[in-house]
Amino acid sequence: MITIRKATINDLPAIKELNKQIFINNPKYDNDAVEDFAHTPQGEKYFKEAIRSKKGCFLIAEENEQMIGYANGEEKEASYRKSKYFEIDNLGVILEKKKQGIGKKILNAITNWAKKKGFQKIYLNCYVKNEKALNFYRSNGYSEIDICLEKKISE
Ligand SMILES: CC(C)(COP(=O)(O)OP(=O)(O)OC[C@H]1O[C@@H](n2cnc3c(N)ncnc32)[C@H](O)[C@@H]1OP(=O)(O)O)[C@@H](O)C(=O)NCCC(=O)NCCS
Repeated sequence: MITIRKATINDLPAIKELNKQIFINNPKYDNDAVEDFAHTPQGEKYFKEAIRSKKGCFLIAEENEQMIGYANGEEKEASYRKSKYFEIDNLGVILEKKKQGIGKKILNAITNWAKKKGFQKIYLNCYVKNEKALNFYRSNGYSEIDICLEKKISE
């Protein structure tokens, strides 16, 4: 049975491993992405703060006590827009458990949390080259609202 629960700081080492496995393809989508970010000092700081954040939500999916996926996010500052926004920072499922509806379960769980907290919309970024994830979000009702642009301006 798959269960979804809130993360605690004791989960930090397992979450870092999970992040490494799940986001292994990020450097393919973004040649500026830090490889194995979770195991860097900045990554450790990011995950500690995300788990402890009072404004955020950090959920873990487990099957037979094995962590198989997670999602985290927090309030997005967007005072120039009318709605109260929640932003999903990360959402993923381990390779062996993909395409079984677990991503959808995790997305539904974090959405329900955000609804209960009074958020009206969920925002998230997704690499344009990550077509699987884009299709996953589209089939769960998400649509494009903006495009991020970047340009290298010095070495
Ligand atoms: C994107 C991601 C989270 C989707 O997770 P998932 O558990 O595979 O998601 P689901 O199983 O709910 O849905 C994925 C697809 O499988 C299909 N599916 C669901 N259950 C299925 C089943 N039992 N049999 C066959 N297909 C199934 C869904 O219809 C869906 O198809 P679609 O994307 O064409 O609509 C996962 O691929 C992932 O972790 N990617 C790496 C991390 C990442 O890129 N995250 C997003 C950026 S933050």
